[in-house]
Amino acid sequence: MSASPPPLPHGPAFEADPHPAYRWLREHSPVHRIDLPGGAWAWLVTRHEDVRAVLADPDMLKDPARGNEVWRRSGMGLPFDHRPSLVRSMVNADGADHARLRGVTAGAFTPRRVRTLVESAERVTADLLDRITAVPDPDLVRDLAYPLPIAIICDILGVPPEDRAEFHRRAAVIDASAPEEIAAIGATTDWFDDYLGHLVDVRLATPSDDLLGDLVEAHREGRLTRDEVTSTAFLLLVAGHETTVALIGNLLLSLLRNPEHLERLRRDRDLVAPAVEEALRLESPLQNATWRFPRTATALGGVGLAAGEPVLVSLLSAGRDPERYDDPDVFDPGRGASHLAFGHGAHYCVGARLARMEARVAVEAVLDRLPGLRLAVPGEELRWWPSVIMHGLFALPVRFDTP
Ligand code: HEM
Repeated sequence: MSASPPPLPHGPAFEADPHPAYRWLREHSPVHRIDLPGGAWAWLVTRHEDVRAVLADPDMLKDPARGNEVWRRSGMGLPFDHRPSLVRSMVNADGADHARLRGVTAGAFTPRRVRTLVESAERVTADLLDRITAVPDPDLVRDLAYPLPIAIICDILGVPPEDRAEFHRRAAVIDASAPEEIAAIGATTDWFDDYLGHLVDVRLATPSDDLLGDLVEAHREGRLTRDEVTSTAFLLLVAGHETTVALIGNLLLSLLRNPEHLERLRRDRDLVAPAVEEALRLESPLQNATWRFPRTATALGGVGLAAGEPVLVSLLSAGRDPERYDDPDVFDPGRGASHLAFGHGAHYCVGARLARMEARVAVEAVLDRLPGLRLAVPGEELRWWPSVIMHGLFALPVRFDTP
């Protein structure tokens, strides 16, 4: 072990630049016990090889009921591991239950379905760019990264146009709140609980041709409970929104920090897709994958873990492991390396194809419409969400040349 003290993997200094702490952990304590807000603690896994092994391991369970008592009492977890109408979804399930819950959404994310959404993403993005070029203080998180994914997930789910502004406002509270801001998150969660229940009632009365309509149909046929319908809709909203916001923001920041790549992308659009992959590796939108709990006592990286002890695997750290990537801190879209930013194994992201499409559409529009793009503030002033799970920017203020 090094003489220097272990870094704290949360708090303002860590949020501003988490990479030195992850470097220390990979080198000195790759399976490290960390304290978390609210009295909880967890094992934090930081090496690429270990992260991949945990994600692939069917004995690392996702059901929050398998977490030990300290974890369950602390109120940690995805927003609200204790509310049946919002948490009975695939991300909290294992084995056959997981396969059943995941199966009902598969049709919504096929290559064909995603292709049909490209036009809608391009239309939404074009409108957003019209606004960005007209406002005095353009911010590519507030004005592009936020509104694009929420518009698309509302299309997929079937949220009526008149409710979308409120839906967007409420989703932002969940995205940007620190875990200790329990009251704000609780009130927002109440709202989603009521609202999604209302959308289900509407579809029970009148079937519809959208994902929520499909879920309600599965409920009618006895394949899903009502709680599973609302929980799946809530999961898709949270998992499909804030992650993509973070990807678009982090990708644009990577390009702004590396202007030579920004210019190369302007000239050669074939480089956009590899740049999206490289941003996923370098600035993983999910800092840590969701919680896991060993089914039985086990060993990892030379450390003994008891059954039910909470485990977080750091996707952000895995993406920068020098054992896996040469010059891991360098943004190099040409490296063509795979990454773990969408997870691995049974819980691999169902929306990966959709997220890649949205990021590509957003970047292409920025390249087309914003010449001379640059940051409006020094890079050190950018602020990141204070989250144990997410890794995304609050704001990305920019300037560009006007014709
Ligand atoms: C850049 C954007 C995205 C990233 C980085 C991302 C990342 C991930 C990761 C790492 C997992 C695995 C979590 C774990 O094993 O603990 C996951 C699962 C999931 N993602 Fe995504 N995601 C993104 C976008 C989306 C979108 C657009 C949707 C849907 C609209 C979505 C829906 C889901 C769902 C439902 C799961 C749970 C899968 C399961 O438990 O079987 N994600 N995502």
